[in-house]
Amino acid sequence: MAKFISFLLFSTILCSFLISSMYARNIPYNSSITYLNDLTYNQTRRVCDKSRFAKLGLDMNDFTYCNKSLPYVVRVKDLIDRMTLSEKARQIGDTAYGVARIGLPKYEWWSEALHGISNVGQSNSLASFFDHIVPGATSFPTVITTAASFNESLWKAIGQAVSTEARAMFNLGHAGLTFWSPNINVVRDPRWGRALETPGEDPFVVGKYASNYVRGLQDVEGTETKYATDLNSRPLKVAACCKHYAAYDVDNWLGVDRYHFDARVTEQDMMETFLKPFEMCVKEGDVTSVMCSYNKINGIPACADPKLLKGKIRGDWDLHGYIVSDCDSIDVMLNDQKWLRDSPEDAVAQGLKAGLDLDCGSYYTNYAGNAVTQGKVKESEIDESLTNLYFVLMRLGFFDGSPKFEKLGKEQICSEENIELATQAAREGIVLLKNEDQVLPLTSKKVKTLAVVGPHANATKAMVGNYAGIPCKFITPIHGLSLYTKVDYQAGCGEVLCKNESLIFPAMRAAKKADATIIVVGLDLDVEAESLDREKLTLPGYQTQLINQVASVSKGPVILVILSAGGVDVTFAKKNHKIKGIIWAGYPGEEGGRAIADVVFGGHNPGGKLPLTWFENSYVDMLPMTSMPLRPIDNLGYPGRTYKFYNGSTVYPFGYGLSYTNFTYSLSSAHQQVHVKLNKFQHCRDLNYTAGTHMPSCPAVLIDDLECGDDLNVEFSIEVENIGNRDGSDVVMVYWVPPEDIAEAPLKQLVGFKKVFVKIGEKKKVDFVLNACKNLGLVNYRAYNLLASGGHNFVIGDGKVSFPVQVKIHH
Ligand SMILES: *[C@@H]1O[C@H](CO)[C@@H](O)[C@H](O)[C@H]1NC(C)=O
Ligand SMILES: *[C@@H]1O[C@H](CO)[C@@H](O)[C@H](O)[C@H]1NC(C)=O
Ligand SMILES: *[C@@H]1O[C@H](CO)[C@@H](O)[C@H](O)[C@H]1NC(C)=O
Ligand SMILES: *[C@@H]1O[C@H](CO)[C@@H](O)[C@H](O)[C@H]1NC(C)=O
Ligand SMILES: *[C@@H]1O[C@H](CO)[C@@H](O)[C@H](O)[C@H]1NC(C)=O
Ligand SMILES: *[C@@H]1O[C@H](CO)[C@@H](O)[C@H](O)[C@H]1NC(C)=O
Ligand SMILES: *[C@@H]1O[C@H](CO)[C@@H](O)[C@H](O)[C@H]1NC(C)=O
Repeated sequence: MAKFISFLLFSTILCSFLISSMYARNIPYNSSITYLNDLTYNQTRRVCDKSRFAKLGLDMNDFTYCNKSLPYVVRVKDLIDRMTLSEKARQIGDTAYGVARIGLPKYEWWSEALHGISNVGQSNSLASFFDHIVPGATSFPTVITTAASFNESLWKAIGQAVSTEARAMFNLGHAGLTFWSPNINVVRDPRWGRALETPGEDPFVVGKYASNYVRGLQDVEGTETKYATDLNSRPLKVAACCKHYAAYDVDNWLGVDRYHFDARVTEQDMMETFLKPFEMCVKEGDVTSVMCSYNKINGIPACADPKLLKGKIRGDWDLHGYIVSDCDSIDVMLNDQKWLRDSPEDAVAQGLKAGLDLDCGSYYTNYAGNAVTQGKVKESEIDESLTNLYFVLMRLGFFDGSPKFEKLGKEQICSEENIELATQAAREGIVLLKNEDQVLPLTSKKVKTLAVVGPHANATKAMVGNYAGIPCKFITPIHGLSLYTKVDYQAGCGEVLCKNESLIFPAMRAAKKADATIIVVGLDLDVEAESLDREKLTLPGYQTQLINQVASVSKGPVILVILSAGGVDVTFAKKNHKIKGIIWAGYPGEEGGRAIADVVFGGHNPGGKLPLTWFENSYVDMLPMTSMPLRPIDNLGYPGRTYKFYNGSTVYPFGYGLSYTNFTYSLSSAHQQVHVKLNKFQHCRDLNYTAGTHMPSCPAVLIDDLECGDDLNVEFSIEVENIGNRDGSDVVMVYWVPPEDIAEAPLKQLVGFKKVFVKIGEKKKVDFVLNACKNLGLVNYRAYNLLASGGHNFVIGDGKVSFPVQVKIHH
């Protein structure tokens, strides 16, 4: 969503010229429309308010859409039926202009809340913004860090805290109610610049993150989906949006940019990887919006593909909400992709017909009316879009108010509780990668002086990454560490790019004197960002030299702390015995320094796990970022992607992370067999086996053919014992390994994870209930989702505990 930003810079100036420029472009414009922006100043902030209507010279009773005793479907229809064609067109852009003569105010659909309320987005007084009234909002860790906690309740709790701050800001006239977050694209390639915004490389983890965060943002207690009779009327705290649909994960790599990139993907990868998190977000999260991406997929712009939008999201997955374009996707379609040599009206018609309800941009508002009068699209397509949009606003209380949230105000923003939650998230997301000789945690008794060096030692903004707002405050690493002991700070490098070595010597001097040395290095938005992919996986500039030189002279143990989203090839540090500890802190949010210090000095026992494979730098020389397949391509020599398909060596694998204590697992019960009895309408399906292996007589069955009841469950418990000398948390990860020798199968797939806190010497039983249909689906190359017969395996964590499950398919 950066394309729009250049436009934003002058958009406030542009506003006053909009109307004249519309004339210039020959757009039907009804001069009787005046735009209402009164809600900003309205105490109740609701449309259907008698006194508000009276001020407009209207009687609210004349407007059925404001009659609370009628169902939304009647009210929404009434509202839409009152509008002229050009009035309708003016409501389907991110800035919806409202219709004064019927009491409908302006609304800005675009706000962001990826990891806290952000001021990225449309710069008008209806979107989210900060000023002297609301100077900042809690800035949680970036998503990649929070993902590393593998704690589903935490993901949801953050969504709840963010939506509380959002409601408070809305009440204060400082935010909208619709937030275009989270970003749930899978990190298919380690070079992707937007890894920081996402929950990592595993579609299952990404989908779980999405559904939890969305529920945290959206759900109103007591009206969650399980209680709702009509999901189209279920109340919403705020509306979330899963983006960017789909196969979007190239931003700008060696000149290939997202506006021109055509992602060539197989149906197998679509189903198994690219669509999976979106399906979970819609079905499990009941999200109210999905955003389509800029890129083309197999030649078709994502926002113009009726199969992907109307067919999948609205049809197969039954979205209760609206589909929005990235900003400004229609312009991209027209001017970058030159899709079908369209006119603006053609492009708008294609979007509407594909099921794209809302245009982030001004193509719909400017051209949708013409597209209808030129016969390119039915007016009823616009009605359908408006229906989807107004249902969401009804559910948000935009028309009737939300008494439950109206009391929220300044006290809820940057509350102590939320800042504490941000700290907890950072602590839980930090991953301990190396702890030679158990040097960590340090103690302030032994470490009287601590040298803290490196370009991130005094990090502030870097800790909140992108899509951040203005944080309540920052606790930098040096600040956090100085709460434990005396700190001697030397930058070592002027900035992350570290273009010269002039500051290395002072850092070495500090390390020579101190009892211990912390080197805080890594990446920032100058290296990995929206519209900026990486070219290599090593540390930038002279950072490696800084680390080696400081380590070589340091008096005490050296601990390396890395701030980054994507993996960094730190093999040199892993092998260096002077460097006793390596900690990955992601981009840990506004309280990052406190969390890092708590881990270093043992105030918190780390339990985070890597949500991404840390590849060796040589990986990126083996395949271009633009090659989309997840599976290895043997004839081109391309290795597989992600832990599911890459079998080579890594710096640190997906799921890796140490603790200051040790855990052991034992399997306390397991169901060993799954029987599938086929009736005469169900048939065996073929699966590709590698040559020379014996294929079972009934290799597989189509999952859609099965009744997926409890009889196809695989149930087991893992007992986790803390055998070390510190309390701590562990993430129990369950991988499914498909039967051997199936040609197209992933090496393994995470199918369950649970985080548990276990005290010293204690045991905790963790129960898992998996289902063969839901968790053991194998997508073959023809994109059938199959259950394979034969010996499946379940592997817990790094593999010390595993057990087989036989799937038997018979008539
Ligand atoms: C609102 O709708 C109800 C149900 O149809 C109707 O009885 C009532 O008169 C309506 N109220 C107004 C103010 O029109
Ligand atoms: C997971 O997060 C929840 C919610 O913040 C927290 O209460 C719980 O302690 C966390 N679980 C573990 C094992 O750390
Ligand atoms: C750390 O950074 C902050 C903000 O950029 C700055 O004000 C402060 O002086 C820095 N601290 C040190 C010790 O350099
Ligand atoms: C080296 O980097 C420092 C800090 O960024 C900068 O102040 C200095 O001008 C640079 N020196 C040279 C020779 O580029
Ligand atoms: C790893 O995958 C590559 C690419 O498919 C393959 O050629 C190689 O034999 C595999 N190696 C192992 C050890 O399985
Ligand atoms: C699967 O087997 C079919 C038929 O032998 C073959 O054409 C196809 O290439 C195989 N696909 C894979 C992914 O091995
Ligand atoms: C944990 O286990 C490792 C490897 O067996 C051992 O080296 C280490 O001392 C143990 N740590 C604790 C805290 O028990």
